[in-house]
Amino acid sequence: MNQHARIYVAGHRGLVGSAICRKLRSLGHDNISTRSRGEVDLRDQAAVNQLFSELKPDYVFMAAAKVGGILANDKYPAEFLGENLQIQTNIIEAAHRVDTKKFLFLGSSCIYPKFAEQPIREDSLLTGALEPTNEWYAIAKIAGIKMCQAYRKQFGFNAISAMPTNLYGPGDNFDLHSSHVLPALLRKFHTAKVEEQSEVVVWGSGKPRREFLHADDLADALCFLMDHYDSPEIINVGVGSDVTIAQLAELIGSVVGYSGSIVFDQTKPDGTPRKLLDVSKLTQLGWKPKISLEAGIRSTYQWYLETVKS
Ligand SMILES: NC(=O)c1ccc[n+]([C@@H]2O[C@H](COP(=O)([O-])OP(=O)(O)OC[C@H]3O[C@@H](n4cnc5c(N)ncnc54)[C@H](OP(=O)(O)O)[C@@H]3O)[C@@H](O)[C@H]2O)c1
Repeated sequence: MNQHARIYVAGHRGLVGSAICRKLRSLGHDNISTRSRGEVDLRDQAAVNQLFSELKPDYVFMAAAKVGGILANDKYPAEFLGENLQIQTNIIEAAHRVDTKKFLFLGSSCIYPKFAEQPIREDSLLTGALEPTNEWYAIAKIAGIKMCQAYRKQFGFNAISAMPTNLYGPGDNFDLHSSHVLPALLRKFHTAKVEEQSEVVVWGSGKPRREFLHADDLADALCFLMDHYDSPEIINVGVGSDVTIAQLAELIGSVVGYSGSIVFDQTKPDGTPRKLLDVSKLTQLGWKPKISLEAGIRSTYQWYLETVKS
């Protein structure tokens, strides 16, 4: 991507979109276009076509989506399936119409079967049943992957699809009803410390294992893939190691400086027992993450204190 290339980042206010914009600016890119939901609702096909005929982007980072944790997915299945299908269909078609040079679609590790062999290789896609609590979102993402492959096959549209693991970092959602586990625990431990609560309650048994990648590492990987990857095959993006939810809670407690006890609420769902991505394909391409989990949680907590608390 040369520094003056026309780049459109969909979802620029989100965790991933804002990290991509930070990374592109740090690389000296000076022609980055973004639109807020208020300016262009990406569910509106005519508005999306209008936007693309104006921008004619050379590169598109598709980081807009309806995203949420287990509770939100379970409560709003129609929106998670419907809105994600609308957004991605509109943007892929609009980018194709204006001959976008390269398109990067973002899926998620929840596209893989619930009981996929660990670590999860890209070729385990569609080889078994999905995790029921987020199958609606997963089906939409699988449709997006297939749409990119179909547009490449029929029109030679250069779309690639990256499958990131669980992400965290500045700009994350800290709402306890709709957030992912890491920001939810950061907020719970901070509140417990400030209010001198004797214990923090963590959902589930604490046994599930999860992999976490900092959003800035993801943005670095996505810019790398935009320059070095041209295959229709999906590619995993992760760190290649995981921790139990209990270990994550311990680490967050020590970063926040909480000294009370941690209690596990076994009445709440655990979700998938383990979800560790096989990242050997990306490693062989020459990319490696730079931000350790502890350092990433520390900087995210600092952002939380400076941004959310202020
Ligand atoms: N978060 C994770 O752990 C994770 C893991 C793997 C993959 N991913 C993938 O990464 C991508 C981005 O996720 P994220 O975590 O950055 O989500 P996010 O923080 O919720 O950001 C999503 C962005 O999309 C925008 N958006 C949603 N619907 C829209 C609409 N109808 N019109 C215009 N804008 C709309 C939102 O706008 P508003 O700011 O106005 O709401 C928001 O800025 C998704 O494709 C997701 O599948 C995320």
